[in-house]
Amino acid sequence: MRVWITGAKGLLGSALQQALLARGVEFVGTSKSDADVTDLSSLAQFYRKMGPFTHLIHCAAYTQVDLAESQPELARQVNALAPALIGSLAAEMGFRVVHISTDYVFDGLSSHPYLESDRIAPQTVYGQTKAEGETHLLAALPDACIIRTSWLFGMGPKHFVSTMIRLMLEKEEVAVVSDQRGRPTYAPDLAEAVVQALDWSGIYHVASSGKTSWHAFAEVIGAEALALNLPVRCRYIKPVLSLDYGAPAPRPLYSVLDTTKADEKLGKPLRHWKDGLKEYLLKTYA
Ligand SMILES: NC(=O)c1ccc[n+]([C@@H]2O[C@H](COP(=O)([O-])OP(=O)(O)OC[C@H]3O[C@@H](n4cnc5c(N)ncnc54)[C@H](OP(=O)(O)O)[C@@H]3O)[C@@H](O)[C@H]2O)c1
Repeated sequence: MRVWITGAKGLLGSALQQALLARGVEFVGTSKSDADVTDLSSLAQFYRKMGPFTHLIHCAAYTQVDLAESQPELARQVNALAPALIGSLAAEMGFRVVHISTDYVFDGLSSHPYLESDRIAPQTVYGQTKAEGETHLLAALPDACIIRTSWLFGMGPKHFVSTMIRLMLEKEEVAVVSDQRGRPTYAPDLAEAVVQALDWSGIYHVASSGKTSWHAFAEVIGAEALALNLPVRCRYIKPVLSLDYGAPAPRPLYSVLDTTKADEKLGKPLRHWKDGLKEYLLKTYA
């Protein structure tokens, strides 16, 4: 087995490198400067130079949800075109692909956790381009595996938990959206599942156990930070409604993923996000 990880320096890509390293699996991780996923000749050239690979885990993506609203073409190149190119290269060279997608492909109006078979209806440029990427990949490579996940946090500077900790150390009051519900997912736990899914085909939802709102998530982060004796200044986490928060891209109000299909294949659900959070905070701040 020899694995190629795109977006290897990103939040999930970094966790995947650790997971593969721990299992002794040979892998090569790339960034845009090694292989631009929007450029077929760049991908093919890299494969010729560094291949062959048996699997590619496609983590590279345009992930700036708000900015995507004003950069739809760039978001489309990275999120929609690249999976098509990767699918066609994989079909030609004969390697398997695990592609990472998102809860944002759904409209957020459901009252039950989203199943893989539920209708997709993205409400943002990011969600739309990620949905197009899923379709293009499956058209080029029908036996690809697509893993949709949500609300990632883990080692690295740019995610909800690290942002909350920074704000809670700086400010006495932090406002957090209270009317969006989803499943926070600890990247190292997702990475373990992705490694087990290397030979799967089809669409799967994978997320840490438990669901919450961003506001309730922030309250747990605050309590854990205090338990670790971090110098928290924040005394009040103010609940705000999405409409009042006014982000450029509307977030799904409800994006809880039903993970039963993947949980059964994995043999058990991923551990609770609160356990992942505790591990993350201990490793990062203790
Ligand atoms: N973060 C979340 O909450 C979340 C939730 C659900 C799903 N997802 C999905 O999970 C996957 C991984 O997300 P993440 O949070 O780990 O993303 P991330 O931290 O933003 O990393 C994405 C990586 O993609 C690379 N990239 C961007 N454009 C590229 C290009 N043209 N060619 C090659 N590489 C390029 C970037 O690397 P460079 O430094 O080389 O530019 C970046 O490191 C994505 O598919 C995302 O849509 C994320």
